[in-house]
Amino acid sequence: MDSKILRKKILADTEQFIQNKFEGEGSGHDWWHIHRVKNLALHLAEIEGGDKFLVEMAALLHDLDDWKINGTEELNQTKLWLNQTGISEDQNRRILSIIGEVSFKGAGVETATSSIEAAVVQDADRLDAIGAVGIARTFAYGGNKGRLLYHPDEKPEMHNSFEAYKKTTAPTINHFYEKLLLLKDRMNTVTAKKMAEERHLFMEKYLDRFFEEWEGKI
Ligand code: ADP
Ligand code: NI
Repeated sequence: MDSKILRKKILADTEQFIQNKFEGEGSGHDWWHIHRVKNLALHLAEIEGGDKFLVEMAALLHDLDDWKINGTEELNQTKLWLNQTGISEDQNRRILSIIGEVSFKGAGVETATSSIEAAVVQDADRLDAIGAVGIARTFAYGGNKGRLLYHPDEKPEMHNSFEAYKKTTAPTINHFYEKLLLLKDRMNTVTAKKMAEERHLFMEKYLDRFFEEWEGKI
């Protein structure tokens, strides 16, 4: 098969597989999150560069083995899927490497990327974690895990290890301080940095308003 047609088929099959898998997900990691990340990542790659096939594959598969959903960091399901697609060893290895570099691991934990493809997929995933959509996803996640919206006595923590970050059961508002408000300064690409600014301002406004209403000031 012509390699361009083959790549298209692999992308279409992967998209169908992921769409089926994530359709009913209720923690803010549903199919539409994957869809937005794919589009954002391709948009960033268009401007910033990177191999679009690898970017699209990694974006589609980035949450398949997510520790928050599956409780493990092993990329087992992703490897199983990739191994039967017919892609080359090199592409297989590069897609796994991008996915391994995407996740946020705590305020004090470095998550550097080693390729332009990983940089744009990580930026896309982080853009979808902030702004109006980010706020909605965060409360969906908190509700899914049975967390409080907010507790005045529970202060945010700056986690210095992935282990500590994973264990949190803190109220959802804490997540804004522990992750979401930090993301604009951790974008890799200039294009994502610009997009993050507006989304960040919106979250700050939202939080001001949340606390004013909490205290019955407005
Ligand atoms: P990452 O791989 O960086 O964790 P994901 O796309 O898998 O990114 O999703 C992370 C999103 O899940 C967060 O932006 C937030 O919406 C939600 N989330 C994760 N942990 C929490 C938490 N402790 N409280 C509320 N929401 C959370
Ligand atoms: Ni994601």
